[in-house]
Amino acid sequence: MSKKKVYGRIARVYDVLDLPFEYGRYRPIRQQMFSGLEGRILDAGVGTGRNMPFYPEGAEITGIDLSKAMLGRAVKRRERLQKRVDLLEMDVLRTSFPDHHFDAAIATFLFCVLEPGDQLPALKELCRIIRPGGEIRILEYAYSQDPIKRFIMHLWAPWVRWVYGAAFDRDTERYVPGAGLCVAEFRFLFQDIIKLLILRHR
Ligand SMILES: C[S@@+](CC[C@H](N)C(=O)[O-])C[C@H]1O[C@@H](n2cnc3c(N)ncnc32)[C@H](O)[C@@H]1O
Repeated sequence: MSKKKVYGRIARVYDVLDLPFEYGRYRPIRQQMFSGLEGRILDAGVGTGRNMPFYPEGAEITGIDLSKAMLGRAVKRRERLQKRVDLLEMDVLRTSFPDHHFDAAIATFLFCVLEPGDQLPALKELCRIIRPGGEIRILEYAYSQDPIKRFIMHLWAPWVRWVYGAAFDRDTERYVPGAGLCVAEFRFLFQDIIKLLILRHR
């Protein structure tokens, strides 16, 4: 099933489904994603707008998403939170932004949704639209090294695949050099299962 269809199907319940994780894990992490950023920032795969409360004051934010249904929820959140953010229906693989348009790009739980064959084109596109010296910050799941946690994640994987079209083993780092980027920072923000990648132009 296409990602557009997957997210068209779950948009209405996405926030409810994710609620325990949002408050248990994601909120403190989302805050860190935007720390120190300013200027023009892209929120790629903005979804229902869960990052909105953490957008830096004064920054010029654009959120893009493939799914009209998810963007519809983001529009409602934008109104509720009174945030200034442009929301556009767009594929991260081929955006309409000019070269070097953004100072930074954020992608929270987008690359675990992108299929392996889309990882490199997505990184190349982000590389193109970020200015030299700008950062791409990617937040992703990874399989834990702990055997018990890993086993639980494997049990959980088919549900994650079916509901979100996502996987825990995307290995985004592998595609970084081919996209003309390098890893400036890699660290785990929740146990050894949610990782932050900060990428820059090579
Ligand atoms: C797991 S959700 C994450 C949403 C949000 N970033 C968050 O942290 O809650 C993944 C989002 O990526 C979007 N998406 C999937 N493929 C995409 C693509 N090729 N271009 C843009 N957005 C895409 C989906 O529609 C969905 O809204």
